[in-house]
Amino acid sequence: MLNTVLSLQAQKNKQQKITMLTAYDFTTAKLFDEAGINMLLVGDSLGMVMLGYEDTLSVTMADMLHHTKAVSRAAKSAFVVADLPFLSYHVSTETAVINAGRLIQEGGANAVKLEGGEAFADVITAITRAAISVVAHLGLTPQSVNAFGGFKVQGRTETDARQVIKDPLAVQHAGAFAVVLEGIPSLLGEFISQLLHIPCIGIGAGNATDGQVLVYQDMLGMIDTLQPKFVRRFAEGGRLFKDAVTSYQKNVQSGDFPNETESYKIDADIIQKLKQ
Ligand code: KIV
Ligand code: NA
Repeated sequence: MLNTVLSLQAQKNKQQKITMLTAYDFTTAKLFDEAGINMLLVGDSLGMVMLGYEDTLSVTMADMLHHTKAVSRAAKSAFVVADLPFLSYHVSTETAVINAGRLIQEGGANAVKLEGGEAFADVITAITRAAISVVAHLGLTPQSVNAFGGFKVQGRTETDARQVIKDPLAVQHAGAFAVVLEGIPSLLGEFISQLLHIPCIGIGAGNATDGQVLVYQDMLGMIDTLQPKFVRRFAEGGRLFKDAVTSYQKNVQSGDFPNETESYKIDADIIQKLKQ
């Protein structure tokens, strides 16, 4: 089934949960697409999990385009969303539209995502006017890590909670077709999902949102460092990879790999002639 803005909206209306995972390369995107994931997110989290930066602030448009192209080539039914990186949509609505357009036209994405609420309503409207679908990312928005003073749960006090509610309404009004809610109490996630008519995808936003998204290295257990409590490890991928690599190493060292069936053959006579 092909996932579109319409099918995703229909899923919310029918209360069928929407599934989303990050993807950054062709091979994993193809696996997730074949597994039937509704949406693939080429997140700027790639700065951390693919490129080894401390946060997402160093990620460039060139990085995003490189990875978005790879994921788009693999996605046959999944809906591909690409993140607008830090400073690619903050300077002017014109540059925001140009950069959003590049992720669609060159990258092959189906939609773009940007971090921001009420303050970015004009940018969302401008991008939407170019017939580009926009996802607004609210709550704990990682590009604001320095402004927040760390990766902290948002909307816990009454004043914060009021803004966390104002933003979703503003972005929905501005034309966003979906929102990602990150790092907010589950009761707020539920409240916002009921307040909005567009799909609300949660990460660390509780169980009552219209769908869930996770960074795949987190949910596949490929990361050893301390993980936030909202991550569930659905596999021990890190251990699986390490065990396989250790086994490869032993097999090479012992001379067991490659064996005869794993090798190409030539007529032994030809080698004889070469030796003469
Ligand atoms: O970049 C990313 O992976 C994201 C998700 C965490 C929503 O924006
Ligand atoms: Na992101």
